[in-house]
Amino acid sequence: MLERQRAAYPFRIVGIHTARHGTAYDDSGLAINPPFGPPATSVEDFLDRAKSEIVVEITTLNPATGEPALSHIRSAFARGRHVVTANKGPIAHAYASLRDEATKAGVEFRFESTVMDGVPVFSSVRKNLPGVKMLGFTGVLNSTSKVVIAAMREGKSMEDGIEAARRLGITEADASYDIDGWDSAAKTAVLANALMDARVTPHDVDRRGIGRLTPERVLKLAKARKTVCLISRARTTPAGIRLRVRAEVIDDTGLLASVDGTSNLLLLDTDLMGTIGIMGISGGVDQTAYGVFSDAVDIAQTVRPSRLIT
Ligand SMILES: NC(=O)c1ccc[n+]([C@@H]2O[C@H](COP(=O)([O-])OP(=O)(O)OC[C@H]3O[C@@H](n4cnc5c(N)ncnc54)[C@H](OP(=O)(O)O)[C@@H]3O)[C@@H](O)[C@H]2O)c1
Repeated sequence: MLERQRAAYPFRIVGIHTARHGTAYDDSGLAINPPFGPPATSVEDFLDRAKSEIVVEITTLNPATGEPALSHIRSAFARGRHVVTANKGPIAHAYASLRDEATKAGVEFRFESTVMDGVPVFSSVRKNLPGVKMLGFTGVLNSTSKVVIAAMREGKSMEDGIEAARRLGITEADASYDIDGWDSAAKTAVLANALMDARVTPHDVDRRGIGRLTPERVLKLAKARKTVCLISRARTTPAGIRLRVRAEVIDDTGLLASVDGTSNLLLLDTDLMGTIGIMGISGGVDQTAYGVFSDAVDIAQTVRPSRLIT
């Protein structure tokens, strides 16, 4: 995507570091699929050698702790680098402190792809809803569970469904995170932290996944024109912000049931603008990549308005 957009958005990739595949550096800009040398001894060593202005953190999700991505982001801030991440873990666990640390370091921090791939959720709220208070939300945010339930509606097994989702490149590295609702809980915590200043972690989300669902149950519901959907909900109560992820039984014809395959829907309940819906149709890795790209462009436009890339 960076290569295709190079004329208008001339970013240079000066380093790529992965745990097992190795590390590549070139201050003048790496080519696509560059040769990789041995891995840098640590992420800190990598960041010291690859002197980028923006660090893109896209390591594997750990919904239970947010690590090691959390430490990677802090290492980047400590070096005065702007950060873009698609990793839900750090935002789900420590958004408020990361936001404050970025401000203190005088750097920008963006995370659009953490929820609904590149669909502009956070940037839309940041730029287009001044004065609005977020009261709650309802989201159909996990694609793997929908692909699995769709497979079960055809009488296939949970494993068949997971395999179909894996072929689409949308499952987490550990698919049980999708099935057990951890991915949805992490997204729920991300939305609550970033849009409602909830200061929660995925452990604060009352979570139940689709692990016990069977094709027989899904087929029986289908006969009654109903389906199951893994739904994230947040609402403001007198006792605080309540968060939950549940496999809910809903009518086939309902709005939430209309979001199938890899499409996602988020309904935002606000004080001044009522309820707003944001939908992404057929998201995938290209859309995740676009979210990362759009964050990098947004940072460039924020910190270098005079050298604006069009
Ligand atoms: N794929 C999607 O559709 C999607 C959508 C939205 C958000 N995300 C998020 O984006 C992130 C990346 O997703 P993915 O599907 O590409 O994950 P992935 O297949 O697990 O790839 C993660 C990459 O991170 C590297 N890595 C892992 N731990 C590392 C460490 N400690 N130090 C350095 N490198 C490390 C791995 O390198 P090695 O293999 O060499 O170890 C690998 O290249 C995840 O946080 C995911 O939740 C993905």
